[in-house]
Amino acid sequence: MHFAILYVNVIIKMFGYPISIRRKITISYYVFLAIVLIVAVFTYFNLMTVENRIASTELLHGLLDKTLEIRRYEKNYFLYKQENDYIENRRLVIETEEFVKRHKEEFRRRLAQSSWIPHFQDSLREYKQIMEKDFISHSKGRNPANVINLEDNIRKLGREMVGIMEEVSRTEHNNTQNLLSFSRRVLIISFALVVVLGIVFGQVLSRVVIKPLKLLENRMNKIAEGSFEDFVIDSSDKEIISFTNAFKRMLKELEVRQLHLMQSEKLASLGTMLSGVAHELNNPLSNVASSCQILSEEIEDVTVDIAYKKELLLQIEEQADRMKNIVRSLLDFTRVREFKKELLSLKKLVEDTIVLIRGRIPTEVELAINVPGDIIIHADNQRLQQAFLNLIKNAIESIEKGIEKGRITITAWKDMGHNTVKISISDTGAGIRPEIIPKVFDPFFTTKGVGKGTGLGLFITHEIIAEHEGMINVESKVGQGTTFTIELPLKGV
Ligand SMILES: Nc1ncnc2c1ncn2[C@@H]1O[C@H](COP(=O)(O)OP(=O)(O)OP(=O)(O)O)[C@@H](O)[C@H]1O
Ligand SMILES: [Mg+2]
Repeated sequence: MHFAILYVNVIIKMFGYPISIRRKITISYYVFLAIVLIVAVFTYFNLMTVENRIASTELLHGLLDKTLEIRRYEKNYFLYKQENDYIENRRLVIETEEFVKRHKEEFRRRLAQSSWIPHFQDSLREYKQIMEKDFISHSKGRNPANVINLEDNIRKLGREMVGIMEEVSRTEHNNTQNLLSFSRRVLIISFALVVVLGIVFGQVLSRVVIKPLKLLENRMNKIAEGSFEDFVIDSSDKEIISFTNAFKRMLKELEVRQLHLMQSEKLASLGTMLSGVAHELNNPLSNVASSCQILSEEIEDVTVDIAYKKELLLQIEEQADRMKNIVRSLLDFTRVREFKKELLSLKKLVEDTIVLIRGRIPTEVELAINVPGDIIIHADNQRLQQAFLNLIKNAIESIEKGIEKGRITITAWKDMGHNTVKISISDTGAGIRPEIIPKVFDPFFTTKGVGKGTGLGLFITHEIIAEHEGMINVESKVGQGTTFTIELPLKGV
């Protein structure tokens, strides 16, 4: 593995930075091919040498056989003194001389040792001459002592020649054996080398291609879960770099689109809210109108208690304040601004949200709020309001489906063990069928008719809660109602 990393680094240094995967693979392929070629050429030449050695060793054996044959006729000649044996012996000697002459060059080239050749040739020549002398003196019947001396010399030379050939054959045989076992070792090492290189190149490829792709895959899974944060992929490959850049661009675009989506969802809920808000403003407005009417009628009537007139004015001021509150909440909600967390009272946030939606709640639906005043959260006011609005809106819609009167309960409590706050929004509405519960947070999932719902309400709510490092769960029973529970980190008392 270390070798693989070193190899990648060397390639990066050699070819500048960054280089493409295609180039890396091509370079690796050629390096691998070159090594395999070197091994193949080496093995081929090695085999050729072994083949030549074996051929020469066979020639040597032929030579040894001839020498032994020469000696056989020599023995026969000394035993029976037959002219035929001498002639055969001489023929064989001449044939051997020619054989050595003919193959001298080949022996020199192919055998490990060649110093024996002149020595053997000299011995052969001398042997031939003395043999001839012996034959002549024998046929002329000369001094027997002289003949015995010649015979001794001939035997000595014959033994010498056989000795030379045996020695050379043995040495060559051993050399060939050594060469063969060397070749075997080289082959095994080459094979191991090719296997190791194959593994190393595999690792290199996996490092270069598969790892960055795996990282991208992990990133994509995170995006699928809704996390758009930036990421870094450490790679020196052109393709991976440009792919990563394109991917990052897409991520940015997606983020922008999601913002737009949230904005349009907000506008959509604003539409629903407006009718409610108008309704909500209507009450204080008619209160103000009737107070004004009474006042204008009775302002000059001195019999009417001044305290009563003051009371009416106070009521007008109170109602005006209430209307100011409604308008402020509406303005707060519609203002487009950056996501900004601040310390907020959960009770106030819930109350402000209710102001926005109260007008939409039918009179048969009872709303109960149990939120302690001492819960402080770190949140974006507008976003969290949007989340609550979506949940309350769904609750109203689910109750509207039934015929009975309904109840929506918003409860909050601290979970000190986990240092979190839990907020549940339950309704006594129609409930959600178990098979669709896993889908309700999916974008565009809706059971409403075409053109009626976007199916983004719960998706966006989930996103908002995730932005606040929180969680949202749902429990529901068909015919009984639904409870959404939000868990947010607690930020002090
Ligand atoms: N309180 C609830 N009671 C019963 N069903 C619910 C409740 N809240 C959500 N659902 C189901 O989940 C689906 C998805 O809800 P979501 O708020 O995402 O979209 P929607 O309400 O259909 O559309 P939109 O929010 O745009 O009006 C709803 O269509 C409904 O079937
Ligand atoms: Mg909805």
